[in-house]
Amino acid sequence: MDSSNTWIQSFIYLFLVSASVHFLHTLLISPKLTVNHQNARVKRVAQAPLRFRSDGTFKILQVADMHFGNGKLTRCRDVLESEYNYCSDMNTTRFLEKMIQLEKPDFVAFTGDNIFGSSATDAAESLFQAFGPVIKSGIPWAAVLGNHDQESTMTREELMSFISLMDFSLSRTFPSVEDNSNSNKQNPVTNIDGFGNYNLRVWGAPGSNFANSSVLNLYFLDSGDRATVDGVRTYDWIKESQLDWLRHVSEKVQEQKLDINESPPISPHSTTTPSLAFFHIPIPEIRQGPLYSVVGHYREYVACSLVNTGVLNTLVSMGDVKAVFIGHDHKNDFCGNLGGIWFCYGGGFGYHGYGLAGWSRRSRVILAELGKGEQSWGGVKRIKTWKRLDDETLSKIDEQILWERESW
Ligand SMILES: *[C@@H]1O[C@H](CO)[C@@H](O)[C@H](O)[C@H]1NC(C)=O
Ligand SMILES: *[C@@H]1O[C@H](CO)[C@@H](O)[C@H](O)[C@H]1NC(C)=O
Repeated sequence: MDSSNTWIQSFIYLFLVSASVHFLHTLLISPKLTVNHQNARVKRVAQAPLRFRSDGTFKILQVADMHFGNGKLTRCRDVLESEYNYCSDMNTTRFLEKMIQLEKPDFVAFTGDNIFGSSATDAAESLFQAFGPVIKSGIPWAAVLGNHDQESTMTREELMSFISLMDFSLSRTFPSVEDNSNSNKQNPVTNIDGFGNYNLRVWGAPGSNFANSSVLNLYFLDSGDRATVDGVRTYDWIKESQLDWLRHVSEKVQEQKLDINESPPISPHSTTTPSLAFFHIPIPEIRQGPLYSVVGHYREYVACSLVNTGVLNTLVSMGDVKAVFIGHDHKNDFCGNLGGIWFCYGGGFGYHGYGLAGWSRRSRVILAELGKGEQSWGGVKRIKTWKRLDDETLSKIDEQILWERESW
């Protein structure tokens, strides 16, 4: 064997070795080392702030208690024997997709127990899957936490920060100092109990006299998880610091009336901005009652806190909140009136949450309608609600009017 042959063999050998290394690197190693473009992109946001449509409506879909676990692998609870083998979190996903497709909401409000922590191996993964359908739709959405969300790999603060950063999410961990239209630029209030207290304004119809005014206000509150009071285990409650913040924002909302008065008044009563509130755990007054004008099912004991901080009194004295939307008790789906304010359950949405076998999972829709002024759309005239069942036709049930302006 002469030396030139050896040289050629060595060359070929080295070439093959380096080619294989290169090949392995490109195929197997580098995709794991470099950040791919999809992951590195910034959060996608909805183009405009929340605003009524030019047909004078704004529709909210309330999703209560998805109880999402690990997706396909997480089985349904409380479904019929015959349904059990073909039922998983994917049924929850399909229900959400169908509701979005049918109702075409302008906004989706998730009222807690979005994920069921103890069945979620990786909280982030479960959140991506749970909110997946609304993110895919590009519809703006917001969420509060329930008492089960933090039972996985994230704390309540981490969950809210994460949820706030998800695509099209308008959720916030802390409220802004000054509640005004460019609230994003303000420092957040961090000395408030809980994570996920914030408010969102919905602007008047495009081109109307109210195009630059918020005509509907949405409050989101963290009702906490569990607490022990005098040795007794109970649910958490909305704290004084949160109520102080609510009163403050409510005053700001009322102040805006003055601005609206400067533009041509459409009717003497057209200036109050109604508000809606969203949180997870019911308040004790719902259990105590008496509830008036109940529409829907009251099938289970109201699981609330032993502590009453006067949430109802605060809401009544504020005057702007017309309806409150809660979750937590999956077998209750009613709206009942307390002190002139409606308290409405969303009804259990998720298949991994407890429920009643043979009793459809359900979801609530809220529709706000503007009144027609002489020339253009005015402020909110009426707020309606109904529910839809996850059956073959997504049956619409229990439609009712929650609030109507007295004179229009
Ligand atoms: C769950 O989804 C599967 C597949 O679409 C369907 O066959 C089944 O009936 C659903 N189960 C329930 C309880 O809705
Ligand atoms: C709202 O603001 C826009 C842009 O500043 C302005 O052109 C429009 O006239 C305003 N509309 C009303 C009703 O004030």
